[in-house]
Amino acid sequence: MFIESFKVESPNVKYTENEIHSVYDYETTEVVHENRNGTYQWIVKPKTVKYDFKTDTRVPKLGVMLVGWGGNNGSTLTAGVIANKEGISWATKDKVQQANYFGSLTQASSIRVGSYNGEEIYAPFKSLLPMVNPDDVVFGGWDISDMNLADAMARARVLDIDLQKQLRPYMEHMIPLPGIYNPDFIAANQGSRANNVIKGTKKEQVDHIIKDMREFKEKNKVDKLVVLWTANTERYSDVIVGLNDTMENLMASVEKDESEISPSTLYAIACVLEGIPFINGSPQNTFVPGLIELAISRNCLIGGDDFKSGQTKMKSVLVDFLVGAGIKPTSIVSYNHLGNNDGMNLSAPQTFRSKEISKSNVVDDMVASNGILFEPGEHPDHVVVIKYVPYVADSKRAMDEYTSEIFMGGKNTIVMHNTCEDSLLAAPIILDLVLLAELSTRIQFKAEGEGKFHSFHPVATILSYLTKAPLVPPGTPVVNALSKQRAMLENILRACVGLAPENNMIMEYK
Ligand code: NAI
Repeated sequence: MFIESFKVESPNVKYTENEIHSVYDYETTEVVHENRNGTYQWIVKPKTVKYDFKTDTRVPKLGVMLVGWGGNNGSTLTAGVIANKEGISWATKDKVQQANYFGSLTQASSIRVGSYNGEEIYAPFKSLLPMVNPDDVVFGGWDISDMNLADAMARARVLDIDLQKQLRPYMEHMIPLPGIYNPDFIAANQGSRANNVIKGTKKEQVDHIIKDMREFKEKNKVDKLVVLWTANTERYSDVIVGLNDTMENLMASVEKDESEISPSTLYAIACVLEGIPFINGSPQNTFVPGLIELAISRNCLIGGDDFKSGQTKMKSVLVDFLVGAGIKPTSIVSYNHLGNNDGMNLSAPQTFRSKEISKSNVVDDMVASNGILFEPGEHPDHVVVIKYVPYVADSKRAMDEYTSEIFMGGKNTIVMHNTCEDSLLAAPIILDLVLLAELSTRIQFKAEGEGKFHSFHPVATILSYLTKAPLVPPGTPVVNALSKQRAMLENILRACVGLAPENNMIMEYK
């Protein structure tokens, strides 16, 4: 059975006018390697840590500024939100289609809340805690192309034409602000697009972005802003001692107009200086060490990298399943071809390299989790190929071959072929990233023994379900397995309303 909303009744949970306060027992384990009676043994000690969570329930009016607003993702997301808000439906050759948020974890997925008369009860994911309604988000942003969003939507060739016609009046007056352009960081084939750029030194460019954000907030009367990079994939920037390795060096390099500071890092600096969450949806190393240090010192949320939309999402399910089933994946080969502007940009070796890196490490944690199948340091062969084929446009093809060793020397080969519009996968993920980033800034907690409430670590691992190469604070394990990432997010939000983690034991029926 499906219910729309619920309230938790518990001595550990208090709902006040502006807050939900929950006192929570976090059940965990401590592992030690100790000498017991002359031999070293691994000892696992269950322990309970008391946590206090408080969530500000006042939902702000949210502005979202996209870097690369006029791209396929930016225009598709903007169009999709308007279509939902306005309740637009359109004729396809199959049926009359209604706008929806399919593919969004927050808007279209559900959680189990318990049993009622022997039936499982589910509720929308978004009913866990008060979240911004995507229909109410005000969108804006920058693009190095000055094309208005209606034309950008047409250029993207993603949405049905009848829908585009209905959306045009809402979108033709939406014109991206000039962006920071440095041809050295993206493919040369993007040059013809760049007619809308901010001039000046790096310092002046950062100041310009800050001014844009302040004006956007003021003009649209939004309480809070989140900025997300969905612009072209950049090449990696070199991390160099003295240049961008520390916060001081990074800021000094901006002042000195150093050429190796990328546009994405400049936008991120502007955001961190303003205390505005910044999320990177592309694979490049926007978050150089100096930037991470700056974000930590200012306690400003940063999250990334690279939307986990299709092939990698499948990989982080399939490899988790194989390794979890005691099957040994030995070769993973992933081919992609796509014909949109992202594909054209990725046809340059330097930008492709960023994508290759971000797609490559996604099975590491799963492989490392099973020492029966893999020797220490052993990895499956893992190859990623991306080709640009203009004709298929945004309809990306992903072909994957997984070969595994099974029982008694047998081999098992699984082949998958996935076809779908890339931007229709990415747009709902962008929505989840900004909504969850905003929500996470309203949650505070303290463990027993900690004097004061504090927010999550500014490097937002809570968003890792949505990214291919989750950015984590130094010294934190990276989790790529999709089910673990979802459970982490759901269970933390459950903790905020005093609900135990979903343990799937269903003892009620045993
Ligand atoms: P796109 O090429 O259609 O859009 C990117 C936009 O960014 C373009 O309009 C371009 O003019 C603009 N741009 C480039 N540099 C800029 C700058 N410095 N400042 C402001 N604007 C700038 O690409 P699409 O398909 O929208 O993808 C965007 C990004 O998301 C790409 O990096 C892609 O790799 C990444 N991504 C996309 C996924 C998907 O499923 N669509 C999945 C994972 C990542």
